Amino acid sequence: MLVNRWVTSPSSSKETRHYEISIAGSGLSYEAGDALCVLPTNCPELVDAILQAIGCQGDEDEPVSGLLTPLREALLTQFEIKAPSKELLEEIARRSGDQELNGLLSAGTKEQLGDYLWGRDTLDLLLQFPQADFSAAEFISLLKPLQHRAYSISSSGKVYPDTVHLTVASVRYEAHGRQHKGVCSTFLADLVNENTPVRCFFTPNKVFRVPEDNSLPMIMVGPGTGVAPFRAFLQERQYRQATGKNWLFFGDRNAATDFMYREELEAMQASGLLTRLDLAFSRDQEAKIYVQDKMIEQGAQLFAWLEEGGYFFVCGDAYRMAKDVDKALHDVIAEHGKLSAAQAGEYINQLKKDKRYVRDVY
Ligand SMILES: Cc1cc2nc3c(=O)[nH]c(=O)nc-3n(C[C@H](O)[C@H](O)[C@H](O)COP(=O)(O)OP(=O)(O)OC[C@H]3O[C@@H](n4cnc5c(N)ncnc54)[C@H](O)[C@@H]3O)c2cc1C
Ligand SMILES: NC(=O)c1ccc[n+]([C@@H]2O[C@H](COP(=O)([O-])OP(=O)(O)OC[C@H]3O[C@@H](n4cnc5c(N)ncnc54)[C@H](OP(=O)(O)O)[C@@H]3O)[C@@H](O)[C@H]2O)c1
Repeated sequence: MLVNRWVTSPSSSKETRHYEISIAGSGLSYEAGDALCVLPTNCPELVDAILQAIGCQGDEDEPVSGLLTPLREALLTQFEIKAPSKELLEEIARRSGDQELNGLLSAGTKEQLGDYLWGRDTLDLLLQFPQADFSAAEFISLLKPLQHRAYSISSSGKVYPDTVHLTVASVRYEAHGRQHKGVCSTFLADLVNENTPVRCFFTPNKVFRVPEDNSLPMIMVGPGTGVAPFRAFLQERQYRQATGKNWLFFGDRNAATDFMYREELEAMQASGLLTRLDLAFSRDQEAKIYVQDKMIEQGAQLFAWLEEGGYFFVCGDAYRMAKDVDKALHDVIAEHGKLSAAQAGEYINQLKKDKRYVRDVY
């Protein structure tokens, strides 16, 4: 890890950081649009709290993958200890006899269970149901392997062949009387220093790419950490000396604290690389303003860029933002193309078939 710096201000309601990880000498390369998958290790304090909750010391040897690995080491490096597995939940429900949990597991919907688990981690459950009382071996047998987390790369491999840049929101929240931390985002923020190897691998995304034709316009919608691949795309366009126009819709909570990469983006605008930068800071006024409101406001121009053969890229939150942006795109095309809703749908399907409407959402 070469660089770990905040891109939101310390007084922001969010903590988003910019990382630069060295790949020099690895022989590996990447393209703008790819993701980097990071294999984290767990927070030592969380491991200690879990060991205490199950009444273990941590130096017990437990059979792990056919090896004898001390329990503490196994919990640090090999198992998902934040999100409970279905098997662990079922066993806690069975042993505790808790009506709510048993009801949710047998008759509840996936959504209801998701609501129950939102913000509740394995330690919360162990503390809430001490009667479940697991031995170390039982507990380990109910855990899932620790998984990697994916991050959209925020640099161009052409401009930065020896480093990979990431833009990561640190997951930290208070729930059930405790401070909680996301495993991987806070592994990067708190546990990695210049001497810690970061285990990672690339995942190529063959469709989420800067257009081959350098003359075609690019429209990029990336609020929050969704801006990450578009920083890479803009670097790539600059590297290629592409003549095509570039338009970024960016937004976050507050301009004063959350305008990530402000200087870079403004410099790109001043140089003419970034033809348009439309900003939506949702919490700077009473009524929320989102990127899709800016798209609607600029609908005529947006439609004109699409008609010129423009590409439309979206990155960031899949659950709300990407759906609302998709609806706004339908509305813009229907209004400014003077099309019915069905015809606008066909227009969009064609964009998708041509790989000119592509998303990297999570
Ligand atoms: C293709 C792809 C690209 C991605 N790119 C990026 C990127 O560029 N930047 C980025 O920051 N992320 C990105 N992500 C998301 C990233 O992979 C992780 O999901 C994210 O960093 C959280 O992981 P974590 O290990 O820190 O948290 P985890 O340990 O996985 O914890 C997340 C869980 O914490 C709980 N939780 C989170 N917030 C709250 C809250 N406020 N209140 C209550 N409970 C909460 C929820 O149960 C949630 O499921 C991307 C994901 C994908 C799939
Ligand atoms: N699948 C997931 O679990 C998931 C997906 C994305 C992000 N996250 C997590 O959320 C945290 C922050 O992520 P982030 O920085 O990418 O984004 P974010 O904080 O969720 O949002 C960035 C901006 O988008 C706005 N927004 C909210 N709803 C929207 C909508 N329907 N349409 C358009 N814009 C909308 C937000 O406004 P307001 O907040 O003011 O409403 C904010 O201004 C991270 O921890 C990240 O991991 C989780």
